[in-house]
Amino acid sequence: MAKTYPNILVTPPGPKAQAVIAKDERYSSPSYIKEYPLVVERGSGAMIEDVDGNRYLDFMAGIAVAATGHSHPKVVAAIEEAAHKFLHICSTDFYYPAFSDLCERLAKLAPGKGPKRTFLTNSGAEAVEGAIKLARAHTKRQNIIAFEGSFHGRTTGAISLGSSKVKFRRHFGPLLPGVYHLPYANTYRCTLGRSAAECADGCECWQAPAERLFRERVGKDEIAAVILEPILGEGGYVIPPRGFLQYWRDFCDENGAVLIYDEVQTGIGRTGRMFAADLLDVAPDVICLAKGLGSGMPIGAIVAREQVMTWDHGSHGSTFGGNPVCCAAALATLDLVEHGLMQNAARMGSMLLAGFRKIAAKHEVIGDVRGAGLLLGIEFVTDRKTKEIYHHFVHQLELAAFKRGLLLLGCGQSTIRIAPPLVIDEEDVATGLRIFEEALAELRVAV
Ligand SMILES: Cc1ncc(COP(=O)(O)O)c(C=O)c1O
Repeated sequence: MAKTYPNILVTPPGPKAQAVIAKDERYSSPSYIKEYPLVVERGSGAMIEDVDGNRYLDFMAGIAVAATGHSHPKVVAAIEEAAHKFLHICSTDFYYPAFSDLCERLAKLAPGKGPKRTFLTNSGAEAVEGAIKLARAHTKRQNIIAFEGSFHGRTTGAISLGSSKVKFRRHFGPLLPGVYHLPYANTYRCTLGRSAAECADGCECWQAPAERLFRERVGKDEIAAVILEPILGEGGYVIPPRGFLQYWRDFCDENGAVLIYDEVQTGIGRTGRMFAADLLDVAPDVICLAKGLGSGMPIGAIVAREQVMTWDHGSHGSTFGGNPVCCAAALATLDLVEHGLMQNAARMGSMLLAGFRKIAAKHEVIGDVRGAGLLLGIEFVTDRKTKEIYHHFVHQLELAAFKRGLLLLGCGQSTIRIAPPLVIDEEDVATGLRIFEEALAELRVAV
């Protein structure tokens, strides 16, 4: 059957969208970003319809969340069934089957050998906060290594770990003490000017600052945890060389620290594997999950090796974490991702990667195209040689694509992240690439 999207009937924002935006602007907190004026009425699969009837192809999935597509019938049916039974009882104090089923499922799926345990949360930030508490409780140490360019959420502990944008931290201090930031391995932007291939091979650009830190400022045996995104999300969809993860795995093994992966954005099939840890083949002690886990329902998780999840009985809990309706959505999501969508992400991802590389060959403004599964970054520069960041271009491109019916989202300083629902097909891939290039061509003529 022919697809009914993208289809722009009225230049967005149309009249109904404008009314919603006006109310929102009057009453909602001014802290929200609001990337562009998309006002959603409904969604289905990779299609979003706005309140004026415009239909879009979604290449951002509400920031990599709608893993199974919008309102997947199996996820909706699981939610409905659970909601008819009961809405809440509090998992911290009582039991229910969906909760223990999901704990078991995630403990068995999580990367790395040996038994694991699960703590369920409402969000990614709550998972990160809990993981930090867990690492401190387990090691009886305080200090944490985090990375430049990282994003771990918006709660006070999480912004202490993050360092992607100053606006996330300004005026919110004093933040958590004992956090040390080190460079992330970004082979496209090696600070020593090495080529991507040279930099990928254990480069001094990120190793030397780590060695200096432990020589001059804090002992290796004082570190409770190293927390990293195995692929940088908000910071620009940067894929590090495997050696970077192995370096920190070895560091933690040798010094008794806990290796935490924040896979809130990269987990649940997005990279074509269940976790980026599987793709890069280096396992953490603790993994933080959220976003795609509930297909849009608010649920996250901390999954840890049993030997590490040693915090005291009663020391951590959550009123809503692992709510029964969210657990049902997560179980249905995992069924779909494990049995088909993850594999689809790998196939569609390599088609998109090849397609974007073809576009890059024609457009000097694209400095780098990188990706794994349906997590792709397209980085824009003013000059390929100097790799000068192309400020504001990403936002212009988002708007140009939006007007043509393609939903995009930026990340980092000048990167478009391609993170569609994992249900996209060949036609969506072709449509997305076509609109992306048309929008790019329009801007290149205009600038
Ligand atoms: C890697 C990562 N960690 C944590 C978070 C925070 O998740 P939440 O917004 O659910 O608190 C995000 C959200 O974008 C994220 O990308």
